[in-house]
Amino acid sequence: MNSTNGYWSMCIEEIQKSLESAKKNNINVKSIVVINPGNPTGQVLSIDNMKKIVEFCDKNNLVILADEVYQDNVYMANKKFTSFRKVIKEMGTETELFSFQSLSKGFYGECGIRGGYMELMNIDKEVKEQILKLASIMLCSSTLGQIAMELVLNPPSPDMPSFPIFIKEKTEILSALKRKALLMHDLLNNMDNITCNYVEGAMYAMPCVKLSQKACDAAKNAGLSPDKFYVIKALEETGIILVPGSGFGQRPGTFHFRITVLSPEESFRELLLSFKGFNDNFHKQYRD
Ligand SMILES: Cc1ncc(COP(=O)(O)O)c(C=O)c1O
Repeated sequence: MNSTNGYWSMCIEEIQKSLESAKKNNINVKSIVVINPGNPTGQVLSIDNMKKIVEFCDKNNLVILADEVYQDNVYMANKKFTSFRKVIKEMGTETELFSFQSLSKGFYGECGIRGGYMELMNIDKEVKEQILKLASIMLCSSTLGQIAMELVLNPPSPDMPSFPIFIKEKTEILSALKRKALLMHDLLNNMDNITCNYVEGAMYAMPCVKLSQKACDAAKNAGLSPDKFYVIKALEETGIILVPGSGFGQRPGTFHFRITVLSPEESFRELLLSFKGFNDNFHKQYRD
């Protein structure tokens, strides 16, 4: 991913480099995983970006594994979720696609119920038979999970008595996530040495934090990478759990962390301000 003018963007050249490096290491690459809207960046792919991925997969004979579990979580007015299924259909290609959806995200957020589905497109008949065989010998999702997934696929229609309350709850949940995404972007960009791209969708931001040489040296003494050192200090001082960017393959020499918009709205501003207190003090303490 590239970061330009406050937005994340997919970079096909980087994907090409990864493929070449895997081939050099004798890895037989069969597929590419695309998370859209993205975890950890919160980016929503443009149709142009998606077409490039499809062309890349066709050229290199790769299957697309499209993790589209955040498809309802788009917060910016100029952004829209488009499925890989639609893009492939419109391009008229034979690209092989597995698309994933889950009850855990969206506005339903029912992680505990455990339900989801996988949709196959342009997949060979024999491969499908093997998948069906494998699925048949495994334990299935709970009955509750299957019912809930069916409800996500077939939500109340306008003629149903539950429609008004369904729309009200859906709008309230998605609006709160959107407000938190905007607030997080604004407040993070007001903190010392932090820059944060727009949170276009999903449930995350992946800000960049500039760490001084003094902080990097302290991390080394503690036997940690600089970004891990920073997030552990944040946890110890504020109780806020962040994920260090090194776990996501950040560009060498840069430091990031992932933060979510999932905390309750009533205390969200307070939580971010407590993080600001930690961050600004950290940079004072480790100033070069
Ligand atoms: C991109 C993505 N896919 C899937 C999942 C998990 O889905 P499930 O709860 O259905 O296992 C997550 C959870 O964080 C996720 O971020």
